[in-house]
Amino acid sequence: MCGIVGYIGNQDAKEILLAGLEKLEYRGYDSAGIAVRSEEDTDLFKVKGRIANLREAVDESVSANIGIGHTRWATHGEPSETNAHPHQSTSGRFTLVHNGVIENFEELKSEYLQDVNFVSETDTEVIVQLIEQFEKETGNALEAFRKTVSLLHGSYALAVLDRDQKDTVFVAKNKSPLLVGLGEEFNVVASDSMAMLQVTDQFVELMDEEIVLVEKDRVEIQKLDGTKVERDPFVAEIDASDIEKGTYPHFMLKEIDEQPFVMRKIIQEYQDDNDQIKLDEDVRQAMADCDRVYIIAAGTSYHAGLIGKEFLEKIAQVPTEVHIASEFSYNMPLLSEKPLFVFISQSGETADLRSVLVETNKLGHPALTITNVPGSTLSRESNYTLHLHAGPEIAVASTKAYTAQMAVLAILAVDTARAKGLTLDFDPLKELAIVGNAMETLCDQKDQLEQVARDYLSTTRNCFFIGRGLDYFVGLEGALKLKEISYIQAEGFAGGELKHGTIALIEDGTPVIALATQDHVNSSIRSNVQEVVTRGANACIISPEDLYREGDAFVIPTVHPLLTPLVSVLPLQIISYYAALHRDCDVDKPRNLAKSVTVE
Ligand code: F6R
Repeated sequence: MCGIVGYIGNQDAKEILLAGLEKLEYRGYDSAGIAVRSEEDTDLFKVKGRIANLREAVDESVSANIGIGHTRWATHGEPSETNAHPHQSTSGRFTLVHNGVIENFEELKSEYLQDVNFVSETDTEVIVQLIEQFEKETGNALEAFRKTVSLLHGSYALAVLDRDQKDTVFVAKNKSPLLVGLGEEFNVVASDSMAMLQVTDQFVELMDEEIVLVEKDRVEIQKLDGTKVERDPFVAEIDASDIEKGTYPHFMLKEIDEQPFVMRKIIQEYQDDNDQIKLDEDVRQAMADCDRVYIIAAGTSYHAGLIGKEFLEKIAQVPTEVHIASEFSYNMPLLSEKPLFVFISQSGETADLRSVLVETNKLGHPALTITNVPGSTLSRESNYTLHLHAGPEIAVASTKAYTAQMAVLAILAVDTARAKGLTLDFDPLKELAIVGNAMETLCDQKDQLEQVARDYLSTTRNCFFIGRGLDYFVGLEGALKLKEISYIQAEGFAGGELKHGTIALIEDGTPVIALATQDHVNSSIRSNVQEVVTRGANACIISPEDLYREGDAFVIPTVHPLLTPLVSVLPLQIISYYAALHRDCDVDKPRNLAKSVTVE
């Protein structure tokens, strides 16, 4: 969580930092700040709230060519101006921004900083105070920075300004993402390349426990022991227009609408010249070699994993388990002899997944990451990567990455089945093309879906989603989407499970959204609907054309039954969007959340 930026060059640092932070706001948005080094001093501007508030607070007349900035998702200390970054050392000499969590900050405070008066409640302030303390002892800012960094336990991406050294931004990284961007007579620092695409597309990746001296026309990477490291830059292949809303009112709506194109892109990327699946031979081999797949994921990606298990078991006959990442780390099940770990993550940065990956790497088990960000931490630290090709997902609520995850998992399952010599009666690439068309049809039916949101959700406090089999998993995702952006309490249940307790919550008018897309359980889910209707529920049944019955609230196009989740989730995404809009919620940036969850 949190996003950081830095700039050193000849231009107005303020504007570049603010524009960069606007692009990073998806990483956290409860407070923000920048520090710029003008001729006289380091000027600090901090606010509670969004970057828009920060823009208003920044003194336009300050002129500076070097600075750092931060947008925050609070971990230690409530969101407030005082706890907002940048933080300064007591004398004001050092100013610092930090993304991550310092696990040993209490110990460091009591060991080295007993006489320091801390201004904030953050773990971060310890870092900047330590730098000052060690500078006093050594008289050397770089050595003080190095010593400080070597004492930190936890995750950090840091950028530091030294009032007495106007030509350098000190940078360090461990576990939290950080890149240095290269330009003509300027260099930048950012948590994500998106933040600085406005000024450069050339970036250098930083590795854990590296320190970097960023100057206007020079970047020096060092290991903690001072050894210099040479690394070539890469070109960030993101189209700057992909990270703009264009004519859309919200990123979420744009990203929902992009799903048909994402399907086509995936087909293109995973198809060879003979219209067969194109997959890295190493991934194919890893799937062939394993005796069990362990899918590790969180939130929406976990829901995609549940569908992935169905694909891998039903199509490829590979035994598969799906685990919530934050539980797996300290509650590891008995593993099979030849496990393959599959990490599913839109961002590729989720800390809960990374801590599992660190463990499985130590145990020597192979890992495959399925992600939208190939250069991300999880991707780099896994043996293999499959790219989602969904394009940047900016809205906090995941939509196109979820359907892309399911599409890539379907391709992986079919490829594995073929490699095993299993005969299949469907071609996933052709079927995904049909899915893409079905998605397009649904995206054109927004008016109808907005009406469904009005009919069922306009005044309710809660809502249930029910389904059986694949529909149950899609219901879990529908409930998550609705609650995270509209704040309606929503829960997903297996259709048959409701009567074992939860049905007690059904009152007159309680909305129950039922997915009835699976032929073999169609009559059972419809019986479950009857059970709740009898108790007063306002039931909204979503069914495909071939299973439609009179009275169903919304009909989706029929696609291959295994791929129905890729289509049936769209109405749920769109209904959630309108439910949130009707309640004046901040659709793209729901309260208390952040897009990239880089703390455990
Ligand atoms: C919900 C949502 C989250 C993420 C979760 C994992 O809409 O986006 O539940 O799915 O935080 O994030 P990634 O996929 O980046 O690991």
